[in-house]
Amino acid sequence: MDLKGRSFLTLKDFTAEEIDYLLELAAELKAKKKKGITGKSLAGKNIALIFEKPSTRTRCSFTIGCIDEGGHPEYLGKDDIQLGHKESVKDTARVLGRMFDGIEFRGFSQKTVEELAEYSGVPVWNGLTDEYHPTQILADFLTMKEHFGHLKGLNFVYLGDGRNNMANSLMIGSARMGVNFTIIAPKELFPGEELVELCKGYAKESGSSVTITDSTDAVVGADVLYTDVWCSMGEEDKAAERIALLTPYQINSALMAKTGKPETIFMHCLPAVKEKEVTEEVFESAQSVVFDEAENRMHTIKAVMVATLGNL
Ligand code: CP
Ligand code: NVA
Repeated sequence: MDLKGRSFLTLKDFTAEEIDYLLELAAELKAKKKKGITGKSLAGKNIALIFEKPSTRTRCSFTIGCIDEGGHPEYLGKDDIQLGHKESVKDTARVLGRMFDGIEFRGFSQKTVEELAEYSGVPVWNGLTDEYHPTQILADFLTMKEHFGHLKGLNFVYLGDGRNNMANSLMIGSARMGVNFTIIAPKELFPGEELVELCKGYAKESGSSVTITDSTDAVVGADVLYTDVWCSMGEEDKAAERIALLTPYQINSALMAKTGKPETIFMHCLPAVKEKEVTEEVFESAQSVVFDEAENRMHTIKAVMVATLGNL
C-alpha cells in the first residue's frame, strides 16, 4: 500500500483497505514502541503543527510520533503566526510548504485545512476541524480491534451531539469499515442529510448500516456506546441549550445495562465533562476504554505521518 504524499483531511478520501493498512501499521509501530524500538522514517523531516484551538492528545501525539521517528516538530499556536491575522491561508500554505515537509492543522474551518493541502505541496493532516476529526477515528478503531479482534459487524452507537466533528467522522469511518453505526440524538442535533446519504452508500458497499434516531431504545445490542462533549470547542455559549436537549442522552449505568450485553464498552474521544455526557461511574468502570483510545492517538497519528511522509 502506497500512501506517500497523500494528505489526511477526511476519511471520505480513504478506502476501507487504506484505513485498515493505517490501523495495521499503527499496531506494528505500537508493538515496536512497547519493546523500546523506535524508527528513523521521518529523519530529516520538519513538521509544522498549527493549532488554532487547544489540544492535549492531538498535539502530544503529533509531537511524540514525529520525534520517535527521527523528525522535528514545530508547534505554531494561533497567536504565534500570521495565519488568520495578517496573512491568507493560501500564502501561509505556500510559505510553510517551502520550509516544512508536512503540516498538521487543528482549527475551525475544514476549508482552511483543505486550502493548506491544495497550496502547500506537502502532506497536510487534519488534527480536528468543526466538521471532521479523522485521526481520532483511527485511534478508536485500533482500540476496538484490540478489544474485539475485528471491526466488521460490530454495533456502534454514538449518543449526544449528532452533528459535530466526532459524529460525522465516526459515521464515515464506520460505514466504510462495515461497522453498524447508529446516532442517537435529539432531532435538532441530527447530522446533515447529505452526509448521512453518502454514508448510507458506503454502508451498502461494506455490508453495514447507518441509523439516525432520537430513541435511546436503539442502544439494545450495542457493542460500543460512544459519546463526546455536548459543546464542542467554539460552542461554549450554547451550554444551557445543549444541557436541556442532551440530558436524556447521557451515558450512565442504566443506559449501559440497557444494551443487554454485559460486554458493551464505553468510549469517548476526551476531554470529557463528567456528569454531563457521561457519569463518573461509567467513565471509571471496567467497561471504559477511554485511556486506551487516548494512548492509541499517538500510535495511529504516527502511522499516518510514517505512511504519508516517511521512508518506509
Ligand atoms: N481527543 C482529542 O482530540 O483530544 P485533544 O483535544 O486533547 O487533542
Ligand atoms: N467535538 C469535540 C472533540 C474534541 C476532541 C470538539 O470539537 O471540541
